[in-house]
Amino acid sequence: MLCEVEGVIVRLGIPARLFATLLWILPAKMGDRMWRWWYQRLAKAKAWGKFGYMNYGYVDDDKPILIPEDEKDRLFIQLYHMNIRDIELTGKQVLEVGSGRGGGANWIARTYAPESLTALDYSSEAVKLCSQLYQSQVNLKFIEGNAMNLPLEDSTYDVVYNVESSHCYSDMGAFIREVHRVLKPGGQFAWTDFRDDKRMRIIHDTFLEVGFEIDKQVDITEEVIHALDEISDDKKHRISQGTNRSIRRSFETFAGVKDTPVYNSFVNGSLRYYRYLLTK
Ligand SMILES: C[S@@+](CC[C@H](N)C(=O)[O-])C[C@H]1O[C@@H](n2cnc3c(N)ncnc32)[C@H](O)[C@@H]1O
Repeated sequence: MLCEVEGVIVRLGIPARLFATLLWILPAKMGDRMWRWWYQRLAKAKAWGKFGYMNYGYVDDDKPILIPEDEKDRLFIQLYHMNIRDIELTGKQVLEVGSGRGGGANWIARTYAPESLTALDYSSEAVKLCSQLYQSQVNLKFIEGNAMNLPLEDSTYDVVYNVESSHCYSDMGAFIREVHRVLKPGGQFAWTDFRDDKRMRIIHDTFLEVGFEIDKQVDITEEVIHALDEISDDKKHRISQGTNRSIRRSFETFAGVKDTPVYNSFVNGSLRYYRYLLTK
């Protein structure tokens, strides 16, 4: 959640500042390893407990109906729901890339009944955790893998989706080509994440160069800011309980708590959050 370092380093906590500086100065591939280290750590972090989601959330007028146990995760689920809302998933072969703590994949697998949902993440610890937490969901499996070199066959999936993960990837072009490769002809790709204007323009052009058609392209920054506003106090409280003081500010930055650099970048427009729906 804090890869976009230009202009936002100054007010990070010290560990986050070190992390962002290293991301900036080291070769891009080292950045992949650093993100992996961070998410390995988060898969075990007390601050996140059994929490199934690590995204910024989304405030929606078109709310999904949720079972009571999911209500506490509504804003995070709504980001997933927004991303896949125009796609038919029932009976389909579906892939999530960057599934994190697995809450989103589990919700989609049980709500939309795809024939199979493969949820892939770079963090072996996250995959281990999810495989235990969600083992009863029979159409869902978690695997370890790298988004830029997917350990999957060509033309296998009807749908690939990706939620707030790709800002960690050192080579976005490689990821887009890999998604195109594993999709069946006519398959759909639902992508949502944040970028500055310059990088977003490059990604937009890459979608087209790789051979995708763009069906939808929406700026959802306002809805994400509203979600961050709604959950800021709760996140702050959770982080204060689960972390010691020296790393608290860094966790808050990572989580997009109000008045931390990434949050402020959304508010001042230097980062914007997007949704794209694409067809192969
Ligand atoms: C901010 S979390 C979002 C997780 C989940 N999509 C959610 O919304 O809760 C980003 C996830 O991307 C994963 N990730 C980062 N780099 C990756 C890579 N190269 N390949 C696959 N997953 C990656 C991280 O391990 C982490 O679980």
